[in-house]
Amino acid sequence: MKITIIGTGYVGLVTGACLAEVGNQVYCLDTDQEKIDILNLGGIPIYEPGLESIVKRNVAAGRLQFGSDVAASVEFGEIQFIAVGTPPAKNGSADVQYVLTAARNIARHMNSYKVIVDKSTVPVGTADKVKDAIRQELAKREISTDFSVVSNPEFLKEGAAIDDFMKPDRIVIGVSDERAADSMRRLYQPFQRNHERMIVMDVRSAELTKYAANAMLATRISFMNELANLAESLDADIEQVRQGMGSDPRIGHYFLYPGCGYGGSCFPKDVQALRNTANECGSGMRIMDAVEAVNETQKVRLVDKVNRHFGTNLEGRKFALWGLSFKPNTDDMREAPSVAIVNKLIAQGATVVAFDPVAMPEARRMFTGINGITFADDMYQALEGADALIIVTEWKEFRSPSFAQMMQKLISPVIFDGRNLYEPEWLHSNGFSYYSIGRQV
Ligand code: UGA
Repeated sequence: MKITIIGTGYVGLVTGACLAEVGNQVYCLDTDQEKIDILNLGGIPIYEPGLESIVKRNVAAGRLQFGSDVAASVEFGEIQFIAVGTPPAKNGSADVQYVLTAARNIARHMNSYKVIVDKSTVPVGTADKVKDAIRQELAKREISTDFSVVSNPEFLKEGAAIDDFMKPDRIVIGVSDERAADSMRRLYQPFQRNHERMIVMDVRSAELTKYAANAMLATRISFMNELANLAESLDADIEQVRQGMGSDPRIGHYFLYPGCGYGGSCFPKDVQALRNTANECGSGMRIMDAVEAVNETQKVRLVDKVNRHFGTNLEGRKFALWGLSFKPNTDDMREAPSVAIVNKLIAQGATVVAFDPVAMPEARRMFTGINGITFADDMYQALEGADALIIVTEWKEFRSPSFAQMMQKLISPVIFDGRNLYEPEWLHSNGFSYYSIGRQV
């Protein structure tokens, strides 16, 4: 099939590359010429394991191309994916102006039937707005071409996006006509694997499904974080509680890991947007207010522990910090707990020496002009002369470090672990002061 993807951000690029991988012809459009130039030279503007090789292979095979020619891109694809950004507006709702601009651009150039697919995360009702925008543009051109608008939310996890796309556990398709449903069935046939993965539903339900899924996962995390804090007061061990709970198949083990809060470009934005939608409907969603409030305090919970150990005046104190990205296998620092932690430590007079396996260029950019943070060349260098180590992201290399080097390089052997990587008892018996989330010390 011939497919156009509008927007070569994270979602657009992964979608385009994976659809080309199974044999489709794909044109990826972006108005950012600089990005297009990088992609045409074989560069990948984001860090995502496995993406570069898929892009290179499919460009070389002539199945994947990048360009900024809107007319050519509309002409190209029988299916037009809209995968542009929907940043939060001032009131927390998702801003769909780029989605509507993309829709109008399609309508300005289309001369035959097209399936227009909303891939961006958009508030319920956006497909109707897309439809209206297209109708208006077609009317201006006095053209009455048929078209369908489909909602096809993405469920890709950063760091595992290729696998999530190639082996999905579900493909949600919101349609209002059979012709579009048929096109989507043909498109996703190669990804069905052994059994039906496609859930076809009405458009509004598909739009809501995306927010519901992310909000539910965020709720589980905030629930576990609050429970972990309670476990600390009760002298219980959240790790044992987690296992005991997760063994119930109705609960399951996924997304029950307490830590220093969720970050990223999705959960914080989608929780806010769902809350906003509910407020607009007049019903509100009190549980979303709580999920967000718990997450905000959880992000700086490690600093509260630092304050209990060292006091609130951290003047002259130096902290090593391992992990800057919001989670492992990405360089994404949007809404990362590390940012809140570093800012609070610096505000209390401390300095921070940070290390992250891939996010340091991004961190240097984010912290430009901020005094008090420097970056180490490797994880052990960060420890030299530091009063304590703070762990924020559970990168694999932090899981089994040399405790001997830690003991030798830190001024005092104190660890604040926001991801519960180590066994508290073992660390205590080996001379460390170890503070984790919800585990006994
Ligand atoms: C999330 C969803 O998991 C995807 O299904 C969805 O497609 C995506 O948002 C999106 O809307 O685009 P992502 O933000 O990449 O994916 O990352 P997750 O792996 O879900 O992690 C989000 C945050 O939750 C991270 O900060 C992570 O550290 C935290 N987390 C996750 C926990 O604190 N505890 C857990 O048990 C799991």
